[in-house]
Amino acid sequence: MVDSSSDPRPSEQFRHLYTPPKINGSFTGKHIITVEQFDHRDLQTIFDVSARLRDRVTAHDRDLVNLCAGKLMASLFFEASTRTDMSFQAAMRRLGGSVVTASNGVQFSSVYKGENLADTVRAAGCYADVIVMRHSAIGSSYQAAYYIDRLNERIVTHGAVISGGDGIGEHPSQALLDLFTLVDLKKGADNLTITLVGDLLYGRTVHSLAKLVALYGVTNTKLCFVSPASLRMPDTIIDFLTKHNITHYETTDLYEVLGESDVIYWTRVQEERFARRADYEAVRDNFIMTPEVLNQAKRDVILMHPLPRKNEMGTPADHDILDANPRAVYFQQMENGMFVRMALLAKVLGVSDADLL
Ligand code: ASP
Ligand code: CP
Repeated sequence: MVDSSSDPRPSEQFRHLYTPPKINGSFTGKHIITVEQFDHRDLQTIFDVSARLRDRVTAHDRDLVNLCAGKLMASLFFEASTRTDMSFQAAMRRLGGSVVTASNGVQFSSVYKGENLADTVRAAGCYADVIVMRHSAIGSSYQAAYYIDRLNERIVTHGAVISGGDGIGEHPSQALLDLFTLVDLKKGADNLTITLVGDLLYGRTVHSLAKLVALYGVTNTKLCFVSPASLRMPDTIIDFLTKHNITHYETTDLYEVLGESDVIYWTRVQEERFARRADYEAVRDNFIMTPEVLNQAKRDVILMHPLPRKNEMGTPADHDILDANPRAVYFQQMENGMFVRMALLAKVLGVSDADLL
């Protein structure tokens, strides 16, 4: 949507120029750019804090607003969002912090006058303690972190960048909420068949989730990837799983794995990423979840979806039936997004475990 081409280096190049630091037990001030920064202990911390914050929100705990009082989050969405943007904003406000956004998203910011990504991010970095950013270019969150690190040496506010999705790259906070939901509902992540279905090439949520399952560490769990041949999981992710000894299986036939799946993660074909409309139309309807399809899965399967949904979840009448099925957990997943983002913001902003747990 927004051009950052006035920077001579393409965003993708910043994946080589900037290496996000491992969390390694300490979140304070760190940019959150890729799930590769997390290990099992870090994930357990985020999950424990998320569960605790969920309890506290449920109990209408009035002290929550003291956790991030006085802190400021900038929301920079160069690409469309409902859940990620709103849940980060809601999370920050529930913790007592404040939110600034550029006028009407970034549409009426100086991006409109042709300002580039780096300067837009620098502006946010001069005002906010944390910057949540979504952009259509792969590597854009690395690029933002790279510039903010250089800016932080020269200004008094020290902002951290949290990626809200970088093109077809990653969506780390989504994977955190996905895995939190999965572990919560399945009482762990071992002994499961987890099936990811749909656009595995352009879908950034599945890239992050597959890697995060590996980093969490699982025993006797298999990842199945179901997609049209033209939208299969990128080799970089497959190699990552192989390196982490995660059993995985790729197929174009849903029915090969539907009956054995404990978790089904359905995804939208990412229409906006296709260069040619005809290529999108050729695969658009390959996998459509309907009540009839769900009925062929295990009784205790959970059906997840990052949302938004289009025709890959059938008709509006199908939605009504699916939504009423207790196996469909995408609304819990959506709500968990706020608790997980509260946990992430609090940890990055340096709130102590004593105050959080
Ligand atoms: N909302 C998710 C994302 O931004 C999934 C999607 O758009 O299909 O990646
Ligand atoms: N799941 C997700 O990222 O949703 P939005 O695109 O609406 O933010």
